[in-house]
Amino acid sequence: MADITRIGVVGAGQMGAGIAQLAAVNDVDVWLYDTVSEALINAQKSISNNIQRLLTKGQISQATSVDAVKRLHCSSSLEDLHSVDLVVEAIVESEQVKKSLFADLDKIVKSSAILASNTSSISITRLASATSRPSQVIGMHFMNPPPIMKLVEIIRGADTSEDTYCATKCLAERFGKTVICSQDYSGFIVNRILMPMINEAFHTLYTGVATKEDIDTGMKLGTNHPMGPLELADFIGLDVCLSIMKVLQAGLGDDKYAPCPLLVQYVDAGRLGKKRGIGVYDYRDAAAKTRGPPRL
Ligand code: NAI
Repeated sequence: MADITRIGVVGAGQMGAGIAQLAAVNDVDVWLYDTVSEALINAQKSISNNIQRLLTKGQISQATSVDAVKRLHCSSSLEDLHSVDLVVEAIVESEQVKKSLFADLDKIVKSSAILASNTSSISITRLASATSRPSQVIGMHFMNPPPIMKLVEIIRGADTSEDTYCATKCLAERFGKTVICSQDYSGFIVNRILMPMINEAFHTLYTGVATKEDIDTGMKLGTNHPMGPLELADFIGLDVCLSIMKVLQAGLGDDKYAPCPLLVQYVDAGRLGKKRGIGVYDYRDAAAKTRGPPRL
């Protein structure tokens, strides 16, 4: 397979914007698409600011920063992705919505293009079944935030070809990432282990074993994690955590993965984590942090 020189990124949220930035600063032309124009505007702003910051810190040259800005194309038309070599999908974590997007992309992009999903947990094999090119569908799971985190987990669907795997791995390595490979079972490697831990931290809070601060401090200082599990859940997004637990429960057929009622309730209340200003913790103002646990 020829080198990947241009990619499409679908979904300009936390993950999509970060992936688009990685491509742009690593000499890959990128078309970033979202259905919400505000998301595109925000992504473009944050990518420009981040590129400027990388330049100020001396992590990229002036020439790379100018080039990176030129390589980023924001678009509200999916058809603009027709000439890309690979698409990374980073939209909402819903199998139905992703399948419908994959079916649309299958008709738009060239026949040689790879369709990759940044899904945290949804079956790559089932996403591939919505296309006419299952051998060119793969999971390319970046960690949050994509420009900083060193890992990309690559997931091979039942029919993913060796060529598709090698080209995707090569692209991730070009972005400076270390690649691990997982077979296509719910949660793959990282979330299969991480999400039950986060869910258990919610149970620990829910059953009154300890405060959120003590749970996070315990895991930080007791197990050398850089962030406590509840803080990490806020960072990932509680809605994302909830949907992954549901996928683990359904996909692995075991109720030990049932989401904690407190996690469900927080999501129902719109407390989705940092992106909404409130999750387990309240980020809206410093004073709010000292007010104690919000009443539900
Ligand atoms: P987000 O909510 O920040 O962004 C999603 C974006 O997709 C939004 O801008 C939304 O307007 C757009 N979108 C939704 N449906 C669309 C469609 N049909 N077509 C085009 N755009 C559409 O979500 P986030 O956190 O960036 O997650 C995206 C994906 O990445 C999910 O599959 C998630 O599971 C996965 N992921 C998330 C991580 C995290 O820490 N947040 C980590 C690794 C993977």
